[in-house]
Amino acid sequence: MEIPISLDPDNRQSLQSQLHAQVRTLILGGRLRPGAPLPPSRALAQQLGVSRNTVMLAYQRLTAEGYLQSREALGTFVSNELPESCLTAMRAVPPATAAGDALPARRPIPFRGRAHAVAGARRLPLDFWLGRPDPHSFPFGLWRRLLNRVLAGAGTHFTDYGDPAGLPALRRAIAEHLGPARGIAVDPEQIVVVGGCQEGLDLSARLLLREGDAVAIENPAYQGAAYLYESYRARLLPVHVDDSGLRVADLPDDGAALLYVTPSHQYPMGFMLPLERRLRLLDWAWRTSTYIVEDDYDSDFRYRGSPIPALMGLDTHGCVIYLGTFSKALGAGLRLGYLVVPRQLVGPARTVKALHDNGRPWLEQAVLAEFIASGAYANHLRRIRQVYVERRQCLIDCLREHFGEAQVSGSEGGMHLVWHLPPELPRASALQALAAEHGVGIYTLQSGAAHDFGGGPWHEQVVMLGFSSLGAKQIRTGIERLAAAVAAARPTPPPPSTLPGGASRDARGLPVRRPPPR
Ligand SMILES: Cc1ncc(COP(=O)(O)O)c(C=O)c1O
Repeated sequence: MEIPISLDPDNRQSLQSQLHAQVRTLILGGRLRPGAPLPPSRALAQQLGVSRNTVMLAYQRLTAEGYLQSREALGTFVSNELPESCLTAMRAVPPATAAGDALPARRPIPFRGRAHAVAGARRLPLDFWLGRPDPHSFPFGLWRRLLNRVLAGAGTHFTDYGDPAGLPALRRAIAEHLGPARGIAVDPEQIVVVGGCQEGLDLSARLLLREGDAVAIENPAYQGAAYLYESYRARLLPVHVDDSGLRVADLPDDGAALLYVTPSHQYPMGFMLPLERRLRLLDWAWRTSTYIVEDDYDSDFRYRGSPIPALMGLDTHGCVIYLGTFSKALGAGLRLGYLVVPRQLVGPARTVKALHDNGRPWLEQAVLAEFIASGAYANHLRRIRQVYVERRQCLIDCLREHFGEAQVSGSEGGMHLVWHLPPELPRASALQALAAEHGVGIYTLQSGAAHDFGGGPWHEQVVMLGFSSLGAKQIRTGIERLAAAVAAARPTPPPPSTLPGGASRDARGLPVRRPPPR
C-alpha cells in the first residue's frame, strides 16, 4: 500500500514536519478516509527513503492530534472519529491558487466601503503631499529620554487594562492644552483618546448613525470622512463651500444626524469659517437637533491673524463633538488623537470606545502626556510653526516667480495651500498628470485625500500643494520642474493677443493655441 507523499530534503521544514503536513492534508482533503489503514512505518520509510524513526514520530504526532489511531497488532488507521461529512465538504474546496481567489462562494459580507487615500499612498520624488509634517522636526532626542523615563516607572501598566477612554494623565494634559490653544474649557472626563481623527470619525458614526440617516458634509470634503460615513450607509448631503467655508445658509432646514465640518482650515480648500457663520451654524445645530463633528486637524498652524476659537469653545448647548489629532503636529505614525464629547455623551462615548478596542497602547500615551505637560509640546509647536511659515512663503514666492501673480488661498494656516490655476495653464488633472511625469506630486480636488462631490466652482480649477514636508530647496526644484514641464508641453508660445479666454484644450487638457498669423 503506497500513499502519494513526496518529501523535499532541501525544504527548510524537517522531513518529519513535511510528512506530518502531507498526511494531514490527505486526511482533511478526503483522500484518506476515516478508518483507512496507513502503510506500516517501516514500509513508508522505505518508500520515502527516510529513517523509520521519522515516520514513527510523524505518526505519533498525528495520533496525538486525533487524526490517526493505532490499533494493537493491526497497525495505524485514519481516525474513525473524524466527521466524514466535514471532510467531504473540505474536499469540495478547490485547491487554493497562489492568489487565494479560488475560495467557494461565501455569504456576502455586509460591509461596503471604499479605501481612502491617506494611508500607503505612493510618493513621488518631489511630492507636495498634503498634511505631512516635516520628518526632520520630530523631537527624537527628547522622545527617547521620556520613553526611558516612562518605561522605568511602567509598573503594571503593560499587564493591566487601562481606562478605555485613555490615560488620565494624557487626558488632563490635552484638556489643559485645549483651553488656551482652542478656547475650549473641557473636563478631562469629556476626552476620549483615539488612534487619530479617523478612529474619532468612526466612533462618531457608531454613536450617532443608523443606516439611511442624513449626514451633511462639506463639498469638497475630506475623503476619510466622506468614505467613512458612506460605509455606514448614511445618506450624504454635500453642502457647498465658498471662500468663507461652509455655506451655512444651504444646510437642510430639517437638520441631519450629524454634520461634518473643518472650520479652522476647510479641507481641502483651506478657508476659515468666520465667527458670524460659526454662530449661525451652532444656532442651526441647536434648532435642528443636529450633532456637529468638528475636525480641527491642523489648527495648530496659524500664520496670520488670530485664531478663532474652535466651534466647541463657542457651543453652549452641547451640540459639538470635537476631533483633534497629533498626526499633523508630531506625526501620523504615532496614531494618537482625541475626541472631546459634550457632557451628555460621556457615558456612551466611553462604552463605544471600550467595545471598539479597550483603549490605546499605554506607552505612547504616557510619553505624550509627559511631552505635553512638560511644556515641550508648546515649544515644539512654536518651532515648527516658524519652519512652516518660511516654507509656505518660499512656495508662494516660487509660484509667483514662475507663473506670475499666482492666486492662492487657504495659506493663512495649515500645511498646504490652494493654487487657483490661471487660464493659460492646463486643467487641474492634466497638470497633475504632467507634473507626475516629471516626478512632482500636486493634488486636485479628487486626490490627496480630498473628495469633490461635483458642482462646485473650483472643479478642475485649483490644485493643492503641501509645503510642510519639503525643504526650501525641494520646493524650489519642484516648482521649477513643474514650470519647465508646462513650458515643454506647450505646442507653440501663445501670442499675447490671444492669451486668456478663447483657448481650446487638447485631449490632455493642455491649452492649444492657434499659430500666430504669418
Ligand atoms: C481633514 C483631515 N482630518 C483628519 C486627518 C488625519 O487624521 P488622523 O488623525 O487619522 O491621522 C487628515 C489627514 O490628512 C485630514 O486631512
